[in-house]
Parts: sequence; C-alpha cells; structure tokens
Amino acid sequence: MKVRRPNIRVFDQKDEISDFIIRMWNEISRSAIQSKGIFSVALSGGKTPIDLYYKLSGVKEMLPWDRMHIFLVDERFVPTDHNESNYRMLKETLFDHVSIPKGNIHFIPTERLTLQASAMAYEEDLKKFFRLSKDQFPEFDLLLLGIGEDGHTASLFPGAPALNDQEHLVAPVFLDEMRHPRITLTLPVINNAKQILFLVTGKNKASVLRKIIDKEDVSLPASMVHPRKGSLIFVINREASSQLSLS
Ligand code: 6PG
Repeated sequence: MKVRRPNIRVFDQKDEISDFIIRMWNEISRSAIQSKGIFSVALSGGKTPIDLYYKLSGVKEMLPWDRMHIFLVDERFVPTDHNESNYRMLKETLFDHVSIPKGNIHFIPTERLTLQASAMAYEEDLKKFFRLSKDQFPEFDLLLLGIGEDGHTASLFPGAPALNDQEHLVAPVFLDEMRHPRITLTLPVINNAKQILFLVTGKNKASVLRKIIDKEDVSLPASMVHPRKGSLIFVINREASSQLSLS
C-alpha cells in the first residue's frame, strides 16, 4: 500500500520558514489555550531551529508565555551549561528573552543522575504534567522535530533499541564512545502529538529527505513518524528539497 504523500512546504528564505512556524505556533497555541487553558510544545535541539527560536523570542504579539509549557524532545547527557546541551541552546536563544515562568520549562534533568534515572525523572515530569494513568501517552499540541543526515530524528538513531520501545515515554540512548549518550522522547509519544513539524534545511539533507519522502525507506527513524490522529508537515527549504520529485 502506498502511503499518502506527506504535506510538504518548501520555502526559499530562512525568514519565511520561521514566519510560517511562528504563525502555526500562534494559531495552535491560541486554540489550545482557548479550549483547555494551556499549550504544550516539545522542541528539538540541533542547529537548524536556532534562527526560529531567536525570532520567536522577539515576537511581540505572542500569546501569554505563562500559559505555554515547553518540553524538550531530547537531550545530550551533559550538564545544563554544557556547549552541547539543548537546554542551554534554548535558554540562550529563547527562554532568556521571554517572560516564561521557570516552572513552564520542562528540561531534561541530567545532573547528579545516571542516564537511566534522568530518563525516568523526565518521564515522571511528563506523567505528572499530562496527568497520565498507566498506558497513556502525552498529547503534545505541537512537536518540532529535525532530521539528521543518517535519518535520525529526536535521539532515535537507525537501529537503536529505543525505536522499539512502545511502553516508555522517555528512553536512554547509548551511542559510540565519541558521542554523549542521550535521552529522548519515544516514538509512541511523538506519534501521539496533535501537530508535528519536521524542520529541515540545507543541501546536506536533500538525500535523506528523498529516502524518507520519495523512497519511503521505512528503516529510517524519521520515516517512523506518523501521527496517529494528528498531522505532519515537512517545513523545508529549496536546497533540502532539491532531490525530491515534488509532483
Ligand atoms: C538534537 C536533535 C536532533 C536534530 C537533528 C538535526 O538535539 O541534535 O534533537 O534530532 O534535530 O540531528 O540536527 P541539525 O538541525 O543540527 O541538522
């Protein structure tokens, strides 16, 4: 069975990409706040979303930050002030510039904990915030994901055992000795989101996007992202789209 072609938005300018995502953020958060009083979003690290976060931090007409709860999609197992910490990047680009209460920032705790304990603590935070009972998964209003050249998304790398985890909300991820271990949301959490945006730019991502979108290579973690009830949009730039058939 051929899977329906995903929704793809191609932009020429960086600013157009940020503006598009900020518009979606505004619409989705407004409606979430209207219906249930709060808006929940999980954000990714990496380099691609940095411009977006800076731009978001300067949006004047943004809805009240005190109604917004920001989670992290994944984290490297490093101290929060480490160069490679996603929390540090988000703090410097976004949190430090907006009036979001500290309690609304759900970072992944990494200090004075083992990797496993860090994953468990973050899972507890999710369970408490979303008031989940056993076997339930959180339903994020918005989830922003990136894609690596190897097809990973969040910290779900090709062939990783965490890809098969259907039970936990959060999983520890061991990588080779050269790379920091990580903590990541699992696929059932990702696929339970109401709206997922893949933000992918650059010529170096053109080939992997072709594998995911045109070839439907199901072995790649990013190809396993299919929101159960929600919607998925690829927000990409011209360079990243250069190997797609886009017909
Ligand atoms: C991270 C991520 C990861 C990222 C991709 C793309 O913390 O690194 O969550 O999944 O989105 O690796 O990264 P770039 O945007 O840097 O290409």
